[in-house]
Amino acid sequence: MLDEKTCITDGVIPYRWYYDPEIFERELKLIFSREWQYVGHTGQLTGAGSFITGKLGRLPVVVVRDRSGNLNAFANVCRHRGAVIMQGSGTCQFLYCDYHGWSYSLDGELRGAAQSSDDPTFDKSKYPLTRLAVDTWGPLVFVNPDRECAKPLREWLGPIPDLLVEHGIELDALMQAVEFEAFAETNWKLYNDNTAECYHCPTTHRGLDRLHELDPKIFTRRWSGGCSLVLLPVARHVIDGSDTHPKDCYDAAGPITMGQFNVVWPNLQMQVTPGRPNFGVVSIEPLGPSRCRLFGHNFFLPDEDPTWIKDVLKYYERIGDEDTRILERVQVGVTSGVYERAAKLLPNEFLVGNLNQLTYARLTGVDLMPEDQVAGGAIITK
Ligand code: FES
Ligand SMILES: [Fe+2]
Repeated sequence: MLDEKTCITDGVIPYRWYYDPEIFERELKLIFSREWQYVGHTGQLTGAGSFITGKLGRLPVVVVRDRSGNLNAFANVCRHRGAVIMQGSGTCQFLYCDYHGWSYSLDGELRGAAQSSDDPTFDKSKYPLTRLAVDTWGPLVFVNPDRECAKPLREWLGPIPDLLVEHGIELDALMQAVEFEAFAETNWKLYNDNTAECYHCPTTHRGLDRLHELDPKIFTRRWSGGCSLVLLPVARHVIDGSDTHPKDCYDAAGPITMGQFNVVWPNLQMQVTPGRPNFGVVSIEPLGPSRCRLFGHNFFLPDEDPTWIKDVLKYYERIGDEDTRILERVQVGVTSGVYERAAKLLPNEFLVGNLNQLTYARLTGVDLMPEDQVAGGAIITK
C-alpha cells in the first residue's frame, strides 16, 4: 500500500492520504497511539478526585488527580465489559462505571465489583485500569498512550518553551482559560498544512495585514527540532500608534509584539497574538479520514480586561471560521480524484513539506527528520 519512493515528492504527499480509510487506520496505530496529545489544563484538576476526559485517536482517556496530589492517566474503558467509564469533567470520589457499577480508586485499582464475592476465584487485583503516560508543561496537560514513549514531553516540545519566554509569554501566569471546541469536515493533516504557512493569510484572511506584517521577507518561518514555527511581527502602525483599533480586529497594543502560529507534530497547534499576554493551544483530533475535532483553550492573565478577551476571541473565531471554510473546500477538492497530488511547494511553504515528511516517515518506517531551517525575519524598517 505504501511505496517509499513514490509517496512523497518534495514534501508533497498524495491526496489519497487525506481521505483513504486505510491510511487513517495506519495513522491511528502508528501516530496517535504513540505521541503526546493535549487533553486539558491543570485549572480543571485542582483537588483530589478532579478529572478530565478526552480521546486520543480512538482511545478514551481519563486524567484524575489522586489523594497524594499526583496526576494519573488511564484508558477510560471499564475492565468488566468495556463501557466508557467517566464522561466530561468534574470531581469524583472514585472512578465509577454506571453500567454494572464497577468502581476504581483514583490510582486505577478495581475497588468494587457488585456480586463478585459470589465467585471465590474472582481476583480484583487482576483488573486495574490501563495506565498511560501523563505530563504537564505550565498549565497544559498531555497524555501519551505509549508509556514507553521515546521522547519526554519537554523534548517533544522542542524550542517552543524557550520561544515563548523569549517573546514575553510567561505560561504559568496565564491562569484564566477559555475553552474552545469546533468540528470540521476535513482530514486532520489539512490543519497542519494550513497553519504551517502564511501564504494564504492575505487572501483567506482579508485585513490581517492591519494586525501583522505579512511580507515574507519580514515574518519568520522556522523549522526547529521537528516543530513548525511561524512568527508574525505586529504591524508597524500598531506600534507607532497610527491605527491601534483596526477594523474587524481587537486592540493589539501591548507588550507582546510577536504573533506565533506553531505546530508540534502530529496535531498540536499553538498561537500567540500580539497585544497583552496570551497563549492558545488547539489539538486537531482525528475523528475519521475526513472529519476532525478542534479542541483547546486560550489562556489569559487572571485579571485581564474581559472586553479585551472577548475581542480577541471574536478575532480568533473569525480567523478560525475562514480557515475551516476554505479547508472544507480543499477536502472536497482533494477527494475528487481529479489530481493525484498538490503542486510543487513554493519556498514560502517549506514548513508544510517538513510536517508531511514526519507523517510519511512514521507511516513508512523510514528514518527522516528535516534539518533545522529558517526563512524571513528581516528587521522592519520605516
Ligand atoms: S462495563 Fe463497566 S461495570 Fe460493566
Ligand atoms: Fe489561516
